[in-house]
Amino acid sequence: MQNDPIHDEAVRKLFNESSENYASLFLPKKTGKNFAFRKRLVLVSEAAQQASGQLFDCATGSGEVSTAILAKGRFERATLLDISPRMLDLVAKQINEKLARNIASQIELIRENIFCFAPKDENCKYDCILCLGLIAHTGRLKELLVLLRGLLVKDGIILLQSTLLDHFGTRVERFFSEERFFRKHGYKITYYRHQDVTSACADAGLEIFAHKRFSLGLPFGDHFWGWGNYQLELFFQRWAEVHGSEAIYVLKADGKA
Ligand SMILES: C[S@@+](CC[C@H](N)C(=O)[O-])C[C@H]1O[C@@H](n2cnc3c(N)ncnc32)[C@H](O)[C@@H]1O
Repeated sequence: MQNDPIHDEAVRKLFNESSENYASLFLPKKTGKNFAFRKRLVLVSEAAQQASGQLFDCATGSGEVSTAILAKGRFERATLLDISPRMLDLVAKQINEKLARNIASQIELIRENIFCFAPKDENCKYDCILCLGLIAHTGRLKELLVLLRGLLVKDGIILLQSTLLDHFGTRVERFFSEERFFRKHGYKITYYRHQDVTSACADAGLEIFAHKRFSLGLPFGDHFWGWGNYQLELFFQRWAEVHGSEAIYVLKADGKA
């Protein structure tokens, strides 16, 4: 599929305008959304411990997850990419504030559309690729996975995050917000089921090595009562490990090509 400049501009505009708000989702506030974003950070940081070497984040956002991983010192080099310049400003700030100079000096920030990205060194491959919160905003899951697989070393891992449409709360939220989101932002969020992720991975030559679900995902829970929603997220953590609205996938090349 060709890049659609109108879609890409709409995404860039949304994340430029919401960058500060987005970053605040990682603060230790007692809301259901903050709970889920902080859980994402913890689970991805744990999964990234399986890898070392070169890290690539293909949509780094405000940088909380990638800098938390880099702070552990397992990666020698990192490339953090995003389509939004305002997001990358926040990443630069995070790097300055949170990372030791020897780690910070090995990080490359790139403002680019992932579908246009090619490493400067065409032989460059990554040991760990983060793809978190992106696929809903591209609608091009298989194409993206093929691209990322081509950037992965033989035994490398891709950590993919998606909200799942299998979850009842996600379906309710889509029903009530899909058209409003489109009218406001000019593009539609794409939703995936676990089965959609499984078949896109198979088509892209990747296998799902592990996956973890999390977040109760009560639709509009924070809208009604943020603190109460946070308490429900805490209470239903075990349930969410099986039925949660969010998933983190650990992907590996299937070795067939
Ligand atoms: C929901 S945020 C996720 C940020 C981060 N990965 C995280 O988990 O917190 C999605 C990010 O993807 C970026 N993005 C969207 N489409 C993109 C594209 N085609 N290429 C690169 N970045 C993109 C947005 O600018 C935004 O920062």
